[in-house]
Amino acid sequence: MSAQLIDGKAIADQVHHETRQRVQTLLTRGIQPAIVFVRVGEDPASRAYVGMKDKQAAALGILSRTHVLPETTTQPELLALIDSLNADPNTHGILVQAPLPSHISETAVFFRVDPRKDVDGFHPLNVGKLLLGDPSGFRPCTPAGVQELLIRSRIPTAGALVAILGRGNIVGKPLAAILCQKAPSANATVCLLHSASRDFSALTRQADIVVAAMGRAELVRAHHIKPGATVIDVGVNRIDDPASPRGYRLVGDIAFDEITHVAAHVTPNPGGVGPMTIAMLMANTVTAAEALTA
Ligand code: GUN
Repeated sequence: MSAQLIDGKAIADQVHHETRQRVQTLLTRGIQPAIVFVRVGEDPASRAYVGMKDKQAAALGILSRTHVLPETTTQPELLALIDSLNADPNTHGILVQAPLPSHISETAVFFRVDPRKDVDGFHPLNVGKLLLGDPSGFRPCTPAGVQELLIRSRIPTAGALVAILGRGNIVGKPLAAILCQKAPSANATVCLLHSASRDFSALTRQADIVVAAMGRAELVRAHHIKPGATVIDVGVNRIDDPASPRGYRLVGDIAFDEITHVAAHVTPNPGGVGPMTIAMLMANTVTAAEALTA
């Protein structure tokens, strides 16, 4: 038997439908939500991600612009651009695509974005609000998208044991903070596993929900999963494959072909978490436009 697929594309389309209606409401007030992307250098993955976000914004009626800066851009130059976007009343959301070149501090950059325009949810004020359970802040898009996938797939988290693999600032840590909140759509017992965890499978084998976000190709295997569990794959790993036309292929953090015979629900990859990240970004952008123009 195969697990039921959690169709991230279809669920993202539901969210987009709601976002489009909110855009229409703003347009009737003469306001068009606007997001600005900033990309530094020519990292192919970053170029692809920003391209997808830009295309989706246009499809929803959200104005979108991209600043592409050379790899040699200095930190003061990037901060000056952020200052000008912070001051621009026609920019509601600002997204600086990570990773940045090593001579630029990501912390300094994320700190500089006006928290009211921080649609990524990376500013320390928004990170702090998330930890405190204050709903007025922006939540990072990928973990918010994972929660939304679970809610809309009617997979209960209250009282469930959720094992998150990976403690990164973009997914693992904020997802742990989201799912342990005292709220009906959270209320989980969260176990945050990472590269120094002893015998991670002793814990994942007990988990009702496993979220793989550690960036290690197909590390999570069928024998790590409890029969009937839900498995969410956040990973995107590039592995060499001379047989492929591009010389590489993309694989997730889970061995999908074997996990589908053990899990009850699993995300495809692509088509699982990825579309949800974009859907939550668009929703955050409209929220920013609504709040800044209220
Ligand atoms: N790099 C990988 N994921 C993200 C994200 O959600 N936002 C930004 N800005 N950069 C990323």
